[in-house]
Amino acid sequence: MAQPLLEVRDLKTYFVSKESRVPAVDGIDLDVRQGQIVCIVGESGCGKSMTSLSIMRLLPRPRGKIVGGTILFNGVDLLDLTEKQMSQLRGNEISMIFQEPMTALNPVLSIGDQIAEVLLRHRRLSRREATERAVQALTFVGVPRANEIVHEYPHQLSGGLRQRVMIAMAMACEPKLLIADEPTTALDVTIQAQVLQLMKRLRDETGTSMILISHDLGVVAEMADHVVVMYAGQVVESTDAETLFSQPLHPYTRGLMASMPSLDEQREVLYSIPGTVPGAVNFPKGCRFADRCHMAQARCHRTMPDLREVAAGHFVRCDMITAEGVGM
Ligand SMILES: Nc1ncnc2c1ncn2[C@@H]1O[C@H](COP(=O)(O)OP(=O)(O)OP(=O)(O)O)[C@@H](O)[C@H]1O
Ligand SMILES: [Mg+2]
Repeated sequence: MAQPLLEVRDLKTYFVSKESRVPAVDGIDLDVRQGQIVCIVGESGCGKSMTSLSIMRLLPRPRGKIVGGTILFNGVDLLDLTEKQMSQLRGNEISMIFQEPMTALNPVLSIGDQIAEVLLRHRRLSRREATERAVQALTFVGVPRANEIVHEYPHQLSGGLRQRVMIAMAMACEPKLLIADEPTTALDVTIQAQVLQLMKRLRDETGTSMILISHDLGVVAEMADHVVVMYAGQVVESTDAETLFSQPLHPYTRGLMASMPSLDEQREVLYSIPGTVPGAVNFPKGCRFADRCHMAQARCHRTMPDLREVAAGHFVRCDMITAEGVGM
């Protein structure tokens, strides 16, 4: 198989201060192939955003630091690039869309100027050409009246339209990799479905690879080719989407699935995984999920399980699991 477009190995991103070192991302591996949609899923605080901000090298300053690992993009380690080289990649070869478009769009610039700005930074174009391309980009993502919308400002648009503008901006330079961090969480369900369909269409038409971050397994089921389940800064399960949904192995993944609302079942009370994610300040020394796990044995509390390949391409971080399912 061809080398993945993105190969993250043993990435560690910590919040470092004089008093503490907090492991937000603690040794994760992640591969994204050309044209693939990889979903990262996990509860709040498990390190999904810090993973994507690490790839973009846009961590909160001054405390957010990548303290280990490699991020190979097209065979080049992004961690070796200078800030200038990195800013030539951002918005051009790798771009990102955020959960809340209002915080990412500039309120005092027109929509057309914002998209044109990205194009002018990375392409040799006149301002007029850039504005024309902005109209094309907006049309491509299904924005109606694109030649009028370019003159409008973010606050004049609905949430769904603003998110489409963000996608148009992110796609303007035809990036190889698009990272979308909860791109539809702030939208209502119908608009959410439209935006997800749009992202799929863009992948099909442009071959752009995508990392889609979501805490919503319904979104993941709809979109993913491959799924990475994160828990407390680590990968606990990683496999293709079909296998994950038909044969989830890690007790955490199973818990997430059991807590998914389902349309064909009228459950009175939705299952929820007992307990809460342990704080990164003092992770337990054994398995980080052990305190919430119905399968945990004494040794789970003592030793951290490795991420093991239990079947071809199916990785699980749990010592109680074998390829056939629950072992021991
Ligand atoms: N600016 C910060 N300073 C210190 N710690 C932080 C900061 N931002 C995040 N963290 C910690 O890093 C860890 C990972 O956070 P991250 O934002 O990646 O979670 P997430 O999976 O994206 O969650 P959510 O689903 O809520 O967006 C958390 O334990 C969080 O408390
Ligand atoms: Mg997040």
